[in-house]
Amino acid sequence: MNKFIVFEGPDGCGKTTILDLVEKHFLEKGISVVRTREPGGTDLGEEVRQIALSSKSNISPMTEAFLMSTSRSQLVDELILPSLESSHVFTDRFVPSSLVYQGVARDLGIEQIKELNDFALKGLRPHITLYFAIDYESSLKRKELRGSTDNIEDEAEEFHKDIHQGYEIVYNMYKDYYNIVKIDATKEIDDVFNQVMEVLNKGGL
Ligand code: TYD
Repeated sequence: MNKFIVFEGPDGCGKTTILDLVEKHFLEKGISVVRTREPGGTDLGEEVRQIALSSKSNISPMTEAFLMSTSRSQLVDELILPSLESSHVFTDRFVPSSLVYQGVARDLGIEQIKELNDFALKGLRPHITLYFAIDYESSLKRKELRGSTDNIEDEAEEFHKDIHQGYEIVYNMYKDYYNIVKIDATKEIDDVFNQVMEVLNKGGL
């Protein structure tokens, strides 16, 4: 059966780097995977991403939550559900990002944001959500190396500390619902890659 795998974690956790390696690994083995990201992943979603992450926009927290779920709703209908008919799908971020960034850090409430998203998902749930867990200080060092990329990353220190705490809260609340598996993302790249491959292999990939 084809699997829907989500890569999650705070900015600077290294999930995108590992996703590059995992995607390459599967393609080299001749296994078909569709890779996408949120916000974005469709033409409409990428336009929404521009609006949501552009530093020129002055977006209210609630609007930000709706924009994220707009992009997600289109991604589910246009790409994820049809692609799962013939391949595995790997997504860089999914609902947990909204629960943490909008629900916790923007203070809109985790349950409220979950409800908003459930409506758009048509019962779709990840087979595995890989949560790249990392402490605030280590993620900061990684972010300093690459520089800021958007207006959410430019938020103050408190916001980012809330994000780290938020991931732990969401992990504890919903690890069964979203099939969340914690990865120690403080380790070196090879080690993190091996942890991820072990989880994916155990999950039947
Ligand atoms: P990401 O693509 O991981 O950033 P980058 O390209 O810089 O690695 O995510 C973009 C930002 O969007 C990130 O700061 C988290 C935020 N975000 C939300 O606030 N809510 C969401 O639902 C999603 C999917 C992302």
